[in-house]
Amino acid sequence: MAADHTQVPGAVHAALKHPEYYVPGLAADEVAQRYGLRLEDITKLGSAENPYGPSPAAQAAVADAIGRMQIYPSWTAEPLRERLAETYGYEPGNYLCGAGETEIISVLIRAYAGQGEPILMPAPCFPMYHLFAEAEGRVADLRYEATDAQTMALDIDAYVAAIRPEHKIVFVTNPHSPSGTWTAESDLRRVIEAASHCLVVLDEAYVHYSGDPGGIGLVAEYPNLIVLRTFSKVYGLAGLRLGFGVAQSGIIDALLAAKPTWNVGQLQIAGGVAALGDHEFVQRTIEVICDARAYAQDLFDTKLDRFRCVEGSRSNFFLIELLDPELSSTGVWQSLLERGVITKDGAVSFRGLGQRFLRADVGFRERMNKLVAALGDLP
Ligand SMILES: Cc1ncc(COP(=O)(O)O)c(C=O)c1O
Repeated sequence: MAADHTQVPGAVHAALKHPEYYVPGLAADEVAQRYGLRLEDITKLGSAENPYGPSPAAQAAVADAIGRMQIYPSWTAEPLRERLAETYGYEPGNYLCGAGETEIISVLIRAYAGQGEPILMPAPCFPMYHLFAEAEGRVADLRYEATDAQTMALDIDAYVAAIRPEHKIVFVTNPHSPSGTWTAESDLRRVIEAASHCLVVLDEAYVHYSGDPGGIGLVAEYPNLIVLRTFSKVYGLAGLRLGFGVAQSGIIDALLAAKPTWNVGQLQIAGGVAALGDHEFVQRTIEVICDARAYAQDLFDTKLDRFRCVEGSRSNFFLIELLDPELSSTGVWQSLLERGVITKDGAVSFRGLGQRFLRADVGFRERMNKLVAALGDLP
C-alpha cells in the first residue's frame, strides 16, 4: 500500500508534500541491462566523473583507513581542514568539510535563508540549488533572463541587475553548469559587491579544468563570500562523497553548528588528505580533459551538421545544441542510450534549458569518437 504521509501525525511540512528529486546521469550497468548491451560497450558521459577513475593516492589512503572505522572521526574533519589550509592558505577554521558540495549547499541554505525567503540563482543552474531551497520552504528565485540564448552562459549584467535587498543567498557557478563557460574575476566581484547584504556562494566544482586558479583568494577580501570545491571531479572521488567550503571564520562557525555532527567519516578524511597531494594524477586528468575538449569541438565542427558543440566550455562537459527543429533533446537522449551512449537530457536535468540541448562529458578521445559516431548515426 502506498504511504500517505499527509496522514502521519505531525505531517511533513508543506514544501515536501509533492517532493521533487534530483535526476542523476544514468549508471552504465543500468543502461547495459535495459538495452541488452555489454557493459564495456557503454560510453558514460552523463555524470562529469573522472575517466581515469579515483586518485591512486586516495585509494591507498582509504584502504589504510579501513582499520580505523570503529573510531569516530574528528567532527570537524580536522586533519583535512589542516591539509586544506596548507594547500590553499588561511587557517583550518576557515574551512568546512562535507559529504560532497551537495551537503554543504543544503546546510548553507538552511543556515542563511529562512522560511519563505528568496535565494537568487541563474536558470539553468546546478539543480541542487533550487531543489534544496524548495524542499526547505525557501523561494528559489530562478532568473531565466540572466542566460545568453546562444551560449547558455551567464549574462552577468542581467544577473547583477536581478540582485535585490530581499535575497538571502546569491549563487554563482564558475565554470558555469551546464554551459561550462567562464565568468571573469572582475564580473564575480560585481556580483559579490552588489550582494554585499547577503551570502554569495561561488561554486567552483569544475575550476581545475578552467586554466584559472579560481576565487579562493577573494575570501580574504569579502566577508559575504563562500567558495565551494569538490573531490568528486578532478580527484575522481565522486563515490567517496567529499567537498569543502572556504570562507571567513564567522560564516564557517555558523555552518559548523548547522551541519550534521559527524558528516565526514574516517575514509573521506583519509582520502581527501591524500588526494590533495596527488599532483601527478590531477595534472594528467586536466591534460587529457583539455585535449579531448578541443578534439570534441573539432569533431563536431567537421563531422556533424545537425548538432553544434556550444563553444566556450572551460569545464569537463559541454552543451550539444540540436540544430534540426525536428529533433528533441529527449528523443536524441533516448536514441543515444539505445546506442550505448549516456548523456544528460537538458529538458529533464536543467530547468530553463528546454528541448534544444543535451549535456555531454568530455572523456577520452575514443569516447568523443563514439559520441559523434552515435549522433551521426541518428535517423
Ligand atoms: C556545479 C556543481 N556543483 C556541485 C556539484 C556537487 O558535487 P558533489 O559531488 O561534491 O556533491 C556538482 C555535481 O555534479 C555540480 O555539477
